Amino acid sequence: MEHQFEPLKNDLLLRAARGEPIERPPCWIMRQAGRYLPEYHEAKGTHDFFECCRSPEIASTLTLQPIDRFDGLLDAAIIFSDILVIPQALGMTVEMVDKKGPHFPHPLRDPEDPQYASVLSRDPAAAAAALDYVYAAITLTRTKLAGRVPLIGFCGAPWTLLCYMVEGGGSKLFAQIKRWIYAHPDESRRLLAHIADVCVEYLALQVRAGAQLVMVFDSWAGELGPREFQRFAEPSLRRIAEGLPRRLDELGLPRVPMTVFPKGAWHSLDRACDLGYDVVGLDWLQDPAEAVRIRGDRKVTFQGNADPGVLYGTKEAMTEAVQTMVDGFWGGKRGWIANLGHGITPGVNPEDLRFFLSEIHRLTKST
Ligand code: CP3
Repeated sequence: MEHQFEPLKNDLLLRAARGEPIERPPCWIMRQAGRYLPEYHEAKGTHDFFECCRSPEIASTLTLQPIDRFDGLLDAAIIFSDILVIPQALGMTVEMVDKKGPHFPHPLRDPEDPQYASVLSRDPAAAAAALDYVYAAITLTRTKLAGRVPLIGFCGAPWTLLCYMVEGGGSKLFAQIKRWIYAHPDESRRLLAHIADVCVEYLALQVRAGAQLVMVFDSWAGELGPREFQRFAEPSLRRIAEGLPRRLDELGLPRVPMTVFPKGAWHSLDRACDLGYDVVGLDWLQDPAEAVRIRGDRKVTFQGNADPGVLYGTKEAMTEAVQTMVDGFWGGKRGWIANLGHGITPGVNPEDLRFFLSEIHRLTKST
């Protein structure tokens, strides 16, 4: 079924994503709902992280916290969830360890591991159906947002998800995933394509539930060199970019703008602009003016890209970081969504984020 929601009062994000002229760049922050906010800890209470994701009431409350606190300064909400719900839906156990991050007690070690066959045999539609709590959270959040700003849905990119599934958590060496791609390239590709099929179905159901733009986080893209990026990240990103519009058409749902964030893959920016996404997210290793030059006249919007670490610095440093983005991205008065170059980090004072957001508004005000 399709839901009825209040009409959108602020559609800057959607217009920017489609490359339309905009009066100012829309602005939101990756991980804007999170540990730097005291009200996050309060609402989370003693619930564990994935319990919060599974409770539409808590997830929608957390999603709205930054929108309420920074009223008028944020132009989008992103549903509170995690990229690792897909490995869970594929039958793997994932825990969130306090102060350490995600942990898989039984990672996918090699193709002989019975989990390999079991993950591949899980039907994408069945896997996506298991994530019904995400769709419920999206629908409830849309209702609570009452059209104030658009709601972003998301998933992890297959490459990044496979990294977590075989490493069992964060990693410095990426030894396990490197063994997979260099010793078992065909099996790796089979898994990546399968995960992409789950992503397509999952994103389509997020749109049905009310997501108005979807973003694919390839947080570990920078672990691959240019050639390996082409071999192991691009095909599954393309599969999603082609598969989602087709699936939405089949379901009779409207197409929505799509964002890809291949973090760290600065060497492949030119190729990322041709992957079929409306928006390409940039991290802070990329110079804004240089990125715009590489994009040329292609109709792709950039999202980013200040160093999240600048929020630990002085007001002057923040103003300078914003000015660098404005000078590089905003000349054409279109094609830019302001953001950090990665998620906001714990320990940032929310008032410093408020200053950073105000500076984006101040320095892009049309006169
Ligand atoms: O506000 C938002 O952006 C929406 C919520 C969101 C979370 N995770 C909440 C979260 C989003 C979009 C994600 C995506 C995600 N999760 C990514 C891609 C983005 C990125 O940062 O590269 C990745 C790699 C993950 C996996 C993950 N989840 C890690 C590595 C960690 C631990 C480290 C960290 O930054 O906290 C998490 C936990 C997590 N996901 C928290 C939150 C608010 C912290 C949980 C807590 O300790 O309370």
